[in-house]
This record gives sequence, structure tokens and C-alpha cells, in this order.
Amino acid sequence: MPRTPVPGWYRTCGCMIGKGIILAGGAGTRLYPLSRVVCKQLLPVYDKPMIYYPLATLMQSGIRDVLLISTPKDLPRFQEIFGDGAQLGLAIRYAKQDRPEGIAHAFILAADFIGSDPVALILGDNLFHGRTEAFLTARSLTSGALIFGYLVGEPWRYGVLEFDAKGRVTGIEEKPDRPKSSYAVPGFYVYDARVVEFSRAVKPSSRGELEITDVNLAYLRRGELRVELLGRDLAWLDTGSPESLAQASHYIATIEDRQGVKIGCLEELAFELGYIGLEQLEGLIAKMPPSPYRNYVDRVARRAT
Ligand code: G1P
Repeated sequence: MPRTPVPGWYRTCGCMIGKGIILAGGAGTRLYPLSRVVCKQLLPVYDKPMIYYPLATLMQSGIRDVLLISTPKDLPRFQEIFGDGAQLGLAIRYAKQDRPEGIAHAFILAADFIGSDPVALILGDNLFHGRTEAFLTARSLTSGALIFGYLVGEPWRYGVLEFDAKGRVTGIEEKPDRPKSSYAVPGFYVYDARVVEFSRAVKPSSRGELEITDVNLAYLRRGELRVELLGRDLAWLDTGSPESLAQASHYIATIEDRQGVKIGCLEELAFELGYIGLEQLEGLIAKMPPSPYRNYVDRVARRAT
């Protein structure tokens, strides 16, 4: 029997985290004129729309109750693609962000969705592949915040961690001219419900946004910020510029073609994770036009029979 999502399942499954936000807003100016046609998070990364990958990461992290936030212009496209999410064993809701007011602003919009539960947020243009098991630990968060650190070559483009001699995080700076370390903070964050109140207290930065770094600093000041450094066996890819978008496509193409398996195939994941049953998977396949993607999902289904 296919399992249907039960909003609030996180209360009963023994895992604390079950809610996740995908923020697919922003103007995507660095991708102009690509971003004139369709929003950044719907652009192709090799054989799938970009948004598939962060949604897959949430699913792999055990998150099935999702709030997707995007611009009023783009939201209908996402709704058309994912509907209420039940076909994937998920519950997907939607919220509008009228202007790109920052990542922290998403939590203010999501106040009702969050209620009194912990919540994860993933950026709609962040691609993770490999050992994403670290994100599973997100589910054990009951209070405070959990963010990650990842070694990058160009830290100044991100939120950057600062450490003391004992390796403890003592600060975070948003796009510093002189980064204090090479550890950037990737776009996967986990917070307790106080994130709403902390986000409301943040003042807009010089770029006019409510910065997620300020929210993280609020937790750090209280001694309630946990930071986990991610290893090299996890790939965190950027997709914000034409170069990085092309690199991400090449990366996905290389791994998929070499291994003969797909990355971010939502139907496969929903089935493998037990979010949907075989009958439901076959129903999804029947609706797909003849394509290599359909052939692939079909092979997944036949493997199971
Ligand atoms: C945002 C955050 C930054 C973080 C980055 C990850 O940057 O502000 O702290 O490191 O996402 O992708 P933005 O995409 O707004 O430039």
C-alpha cells in the first residue's frame, strides 16, 4: 500500500525534524539573460530542473513536510510541477516572497508552517551530492541551531566561519573582504522554532536583505549554535553564475553517465525511501512521456518486481 504523507508525522516517527523549507526566490541577476526566461531554480542542471536536487536532499534527510517559497511570478510553475506533493509521498505547501528580502525573511513568512517545531531550510540553488548523511543528524535537533561548514576556494562569496585556536566557531561573516577561514556556510540550515523570533529581530543589511548570518550569530551569541564541518566526500555545488551552472551540469552528467544511476530523481527516491509504493510509482511512470528519464524510472520499478 502506498504511504500517504501525514502532516505532523514528525511527532510520531521518533525523529524530531520533519519540516523543511525550500527557498527558491531571488532575482538571479548573475544569470541574466537566462533568468529572464525562467527563474534560476527551474533552470536545467543537466537533465533535471535545479529544484529537484535540493528537494531530493530534503527527502534524503527524512523531511516530508515541505514549504516552498518563491516569487509571485514563479510560484505557479512550482505548483504546477509538484502540486501538493502527495504523488511523491510528501506534503508540499507554498508561500510567496514578494521581493528578495533575504533568507531570514523566509522564516517570517513560514511562521505558521513552523509553529513550535524545528525546521530545516535549504536554498533552491544549492546542490549537494555524496555523503549527505550529515544532514540526517538534523533530525535529532530539539533546540538551538545546526549549520555546516565546507572548505571552498573562494570563501569571500559566502558566509564564512571564524575559529579560535581550539577549533571552536567564534564568529561568522557574510561575504567578508578578508575571510578569516576557508570554511563557507552552505545553504542547509536547521533551527528550533525560535528562528522566527530571531529573524524578526534582524535588521536589513547593506544589500537590503535579512541575512541568515545574523540569525546564526544570534544563536552563536547564546551558545546554541552547533557547527558541523562537512568532509570532502560531499560535493557542494554552486549554481549562481553561468560558469558554476555549467560546471554543476557537467558534474551531474559525468557521475550519472559513469554510474548509470540518476542524482536527484525524485520518483526513485520517493520509492526507495518508502514514501510511495510500487503501484504509485507505476502510476507516475504512466504519466511520463517516452524519454530516457521514463526508461530510467521504469527500470527502478522493474528492479522491484
Ligand atoms: C547565501 C548566504 C550565505 C551562504 C550562501 C550559500 O548567500 O547569505 O551566507 O553562504 O547563501 O549558498 P547568497 O546566495 O544570498 O549570496
